[in-house]
Amino acid sequence: MHAWLCETPTGVDALTWTEQPTPTPGPGQALIEIKAASLNFPDLLIVQNKYQIKPPLPFVPGSEYAGVVVAIGEGVTQLQMGQNVACLAGTGGFATHVLAPAALCMPLPEGFGHVDAAAFIMTYGTSWHALMDRAQLKPGETVLVLGAAGGVGTAAIQIAKAAGAKVIAAASTDEKCALCESIGADVSINYSTHPLPGAFRDAIKAATGGKGPDVIYDPVGGDFAEPAFRSIGWRGRYLVVGFAAGGIPTLPLNLTLLKGASLVGVFWGDFAKREPQANAKMMAELAVWYAEGKIKPVIDRTMPMAQLKDAYTHMGSRGVKGKLVMVN
Ligand SMILES: NC(=O)c1ccc[n+]([C@@H]2O[C@H](COP(=O)([O-])OP(=O)(O)OC[C@H]3O[C@@H](n4cnc5c(N)ncnc54)[C@H](OP(=O)(O)O)[C@@H]3O)[C@@H](O)[C@H]2O)c1
Repeated sequence: MHAWLCETPTGVDALTWTEQPTPTPGPGQALIEIKAASLNFPDLLIVQNKYQIKPPLPFVPGSEYAGVVVAIGEGVTQLQMGQNVACLAGTGGFATHVLAPAALCMPLPEGFGHVDAAAFIMTYGTSWHALMDRAQLKPGETVLVLGAAGGVGTAAIQIAKAAGAKVIAAASTDEKCALCESIGADVSINYSTHPLPGAFRDAIKAATGGKGPDVIYDPVGGDFAEPAFRSIGWRGRYLVVGFAAGGIPTLPLNLTLLKGASLVGVFWGDFAKREPQANAKMMAELAVWYAEGKIKPVIDRTMPMAQLKDAYTHMGSRGVKGKLVMVN
């Protein structure tokens, strides 16, 4: 087997494509032949030692992948040889094979392809948990999605629309805004041409008839958070999802009082660990929505696994629309 190895977490340049002996699964494990693995923002942080989870060295990055079960360890009863599965295990995906914890492997229904499956669990899990669980989004409400053309952003647009909400998508280029509208956003705001803070706030107000959004989905943070929060509607819910812009924002707390609004933290990974039954129910519902065509990962492009460094560069430069997927 081959894998991208991170021996020193100093960045993408230090990754090496190495040949390794193909492992045999131990108890509770399955050997997966990887067909597709997607890039998520944490994959960028983890190889720079900037992610909250720091795997022991050396490790193979690649949090999320899909493939075929080619060997099964002792005690694994829920998987079969030759079965198609998707898995979000945190590491191991940027390779040709991986030993996966069988409990984390999601069997794929007929018609769920490897590329879509590799781009599904993290983004849709996060955005569903955020919008439907943490924000209790109701039909007819208005959602503002920041970084709307990114991985979690595109999933948030589709989920909010499927839930009957009106969606305002905010992104940094006209091309990204057009993509957001093509997947269901009702309105888009280019925050490069409506700069922070004033013009951006005015554009949000105009898009909501002066009322402000009921829910704001923020995976970007930085300088976007305060002007966005200042635009929120009465009883609004502001979802703190991530900090792709780098800076962790601070907010004057009187803003929550003035709007009767809530700041709501979203940590889908811990939700999945702490509330596994609720998470399994949510993933099952998402699989039904996928089968019904209500949601479908937006794939920016697929690239050969050997070109991982180019893929990282593309993601780091804010070039990706939707998801980048590496394929074997
Ligand atoms: N809380 C959770 O449970 C959870 C789960 C998954 C992911 N996340 C977090 O959500 C965030 C987004 O993840 P993702 O996988 O959707 O990433 P992504 O596909 O790269 O999207 C991030 C978006 O952020 C915007 N952005 C603004 N400033 C940026 C900068 N300086 N560098 C890069 N992007 C910038 C970009 O949109 P524009 O160019 O349009 O501004 C980009 O499309 C990350 O912080 C990630 O850690 C949180």
